[in-house]
Amino acid sequence: MAETLNAEHRPPQGEAGERIERLWARSMTALIVLLLVVLVFTSAHWGLHPPSRLETIDSTSLHKGGEFSEANLGTSIAPDGSTVVRVVAQQYAFVPSCVLVPAGVPVTMRLASADVVHGFLIQDTNVNAMVVPGYVTTVRTTFRDSGERLMPCHEFCGVGHQAMWAHVRIVDAKQFPFEDAKAKAVSCG
Ligand code: CUA
Repeated sequence: MAETLNAEHRPPQGEAGERIERLWARSMTALIVLLLVVLVFTSAHWGLHPPSRLETIDSTSLHKGGEFSEANLGTSIAPDGSTVVRVVAQQYAFVPSCVLVPAGVPVTMRLASADVVHGFLIQDTNVNAMVVPGYVTTVRTTFRDSGERLMPCHEFCGVGHQAMWAHVRIVDAKQFPFEDAKAKAVSCG
């Protein structure tokens, strides 16, 4: 078959071939370097990191009590004064559906799934993580500006996936009900 190929269709030989190979090797190296730069830039500049803690939980019994029981869902002020948001992700909603947080205060978000893999991100922030059944996802952030943000699920979780999202209402720290949140979890009511 080879002898039926005319010169036009044969791959370049000798020096021309080597030149093309070098060109490809250089462009692929440049592409890999570019992707590494993007990776370092997003993790350093935007503070995007994979959740680093490994904490397990029984996803089938979240509703039976414990940290993720209904009364604990929302934003609470822990005894040490830290702000903790607890959210359950389930097909096809986040509970609570509207999260209330103070601006300018470090916030720890803790999420657990009641069924399958979900994901969440909060628009215009560095919050972006997966929620895997059996594990607690912990993300720490400080919301800079007050306003409403959308928090969609970004992992395909079933037929209702596209309708799964929550709101995050970031309010001025002066307007946040810190005293109420010490007694019980609050959300936008
Ligand atoms: Cu939950 Cu997609």
